[in-house]
Amino acid sequence: MRLAKYLAQAGIASRRQAEEIIRMGRVKLNGSIVTELATVVDSKIDHIELDGKIVGAEQQVYILLNKPPGYISAVNDPWGRPTVLELAGDIKERIYPVGRLDYDTEGLLLLTNDGQFTNLMIHPRYNIDKKYEACVRGSIKDNELKRLRDGVDLEDGMTAPAGIRLISRDDRASIIELLIHEGRKRQVKRMCGAVGHSVISLKRVAFAFLTLEGVEIGEYRNLQKAEVRRLQDIALHEL
Ligand code: URA
Repeated sequence: MRLAKYLAQAGIASRRQAEEIIRMGRVKLNGSIVTELATVVDSKIDHIELDGKIVGAEQQVYILLNKPPGYISAVNDPWGRPTVLELAGDIKERIYPVGRLDYDTEGLLLLTNDGQFTNLMIHPRYNIDKKYEACVRGSIKDNELKRLRDGVDLEDGMTAPAGIRLISRDDRASIIELLIHEGRKRQVKRMCGAVGHSVISLKRVAFAFLTLEGVEIGEYRNLQKAEVRRLQDIALHEL
């Protein structure tokens, strides 16, 4: 298999990022730096290193994290903010978040080292349901709930119809549940903003059939094999 594919399958990076890493001269094959993208490797006989560390065929890991606010959904942060990886520090495989939750958003976030799984979960074509609970400023009106349900006009286009449920409202704040399958950047905050309500706090409470049940804030659990398979099935059946 080509070297970039091998690195991607080992959970190092996407195929494209892996090619960049090879071009930068960070990869050694049997002790010599290789920058040629067409290099073909055999995982059974070749010895591959990235930045001096052996790249093996890692076991695939799938984690469900209950992210607290105040953590960035990235592998590292140029500003030195805590990353979600620090909450799974005892996992030795090179995991990374599946999509992202904003720094101040809490709730269900998956982490894995399986690039193909990540693509299935975040690709807009596959339509995985995500459920959020948002606390917004002010008392949200019925017609505003309807607008959220029908779709609102954002700068990157109309949002798809969404499942919207009012949980509570008073003069100061309202709590609503939003079921969406798109995964645009800051989508929930922008949707709420579009109907005149800024978000005070946001939590993702479900991803497909997965919930936070049994996972305390800041804690994680491994997904069961059957759960991983079911997620893959859901994505592929949406095609
Ligand atoms: N929508 C947002 O606005 N923020 C998130 O973190 C997730 C969804």
